[in-house]
Amino acid sequence: MSAFTLDHVIESQQFDRDLLELVFQTADQMKTDLYGERRLAKFLDGKIMASLFYEPSTRTRFSFESAMRRLGGSVITTENAREFSSAAKGESLSDSTRIMNGYADVIVMRHNEAGSAARAAEISTIPIINAGDGAGQHPTQALLDMYTIVDAFPGVNDLKIAMVGDLRYGRTVRSLSYLLTKYEKVEIIFVSPPVCKMEGDIKAYLDKYSISWREETDLEKVAPEVDCIYMTRIQKERFHSVEDYQAAASKYILSPELVFAMKPSAIIMHPLPRVDEIPGEIDGDPRARYFEQAQNGLYIRMALLYLLFNKE
Ligand code: CP
Repeated sequence: MSAFTLDHVIESQQFDRDLLELVFQTADQMKTDLYGERRLAKFLDGKIMASLFYEPSTRTRFSFESAMRRLGGSVITTENAREFSSAAKGESLSDSTRIMNGYADVIVMRHNEAGSAARAAEISTIPIINAGDGAGQHPTQALLDMYTIVDAFPGVNDLKIAMVGDLRYGRTVRSLSYLLTKYEKVEIIFVSPPVCKMEGDIKAYLDKYSISWREETDLEKVAPEVDCIYMTRIQKERFHSVEDYQAAASKYILSPELVFAMKPSAIIMHPLPRVDEIPGEIDGDPRARYFEQAQNGLYIRMALLYLLFNKE
């Protein structure tokens, strides 16, 4: 493996193509090793990962904890840092970070405020991994998303992707948009209700990197023309008004008719959890990749932990 230093994982923009390829190659090796000789089973022996989650999680937290253990490390954690850490007593994030620096070798942090991981990284002497910061970013999700896309479309040339649903508060689609600028001839179609449109900062970034994008509201029109439909949940917890939530909820459901209209080579992705936007009957379609996508999170997170501690 080539020599890259990865100090923190905060935002998708920090990954260039060389680093992306290294992460993906390392994830491939992790997958092979996990089901093979287990040569890396003690690589992180003696290292401790603190998982500090101020918001709920199934995939990100458990895949990181599994990744750490599968590499021989150990994990310290709390079920809910907002309730069971001293944040409940008013401790600042920077004080908590300083304290955890003395107890762990890496911190995986999910927080409700955008920019929180970057602030923690400024004062941390150990690596900070952003596991989702409010409506900001979710870079490790974008990495596993891109790993899934690269697997389906090697080279990622002329990829047309529709991002559907809550694009305003969705950190996964923000991080994935940033990452897609690293590839050529990508076209993004943002499909959302008017109250959930993609924010201007992402559109400006895509323009800066000459990535073609447009906005639509009709998923029926878009489904037949794309290589990938990336569905997202309308995140009730992020809305400031019930009216706005009701204007967005259940507007986009990937029905069997819509899936039938998709290209045979297309794929369906979703960061999960889902509510009603992908009915269970779609799960058996060979184009449905969301469970494989979630599984890829384990290999990507093993790769990131490996690279954070392997400075050779
Ligand atoms: N995709 C994702 O971040 O899932 P969790 O909220 O379960 O971690």
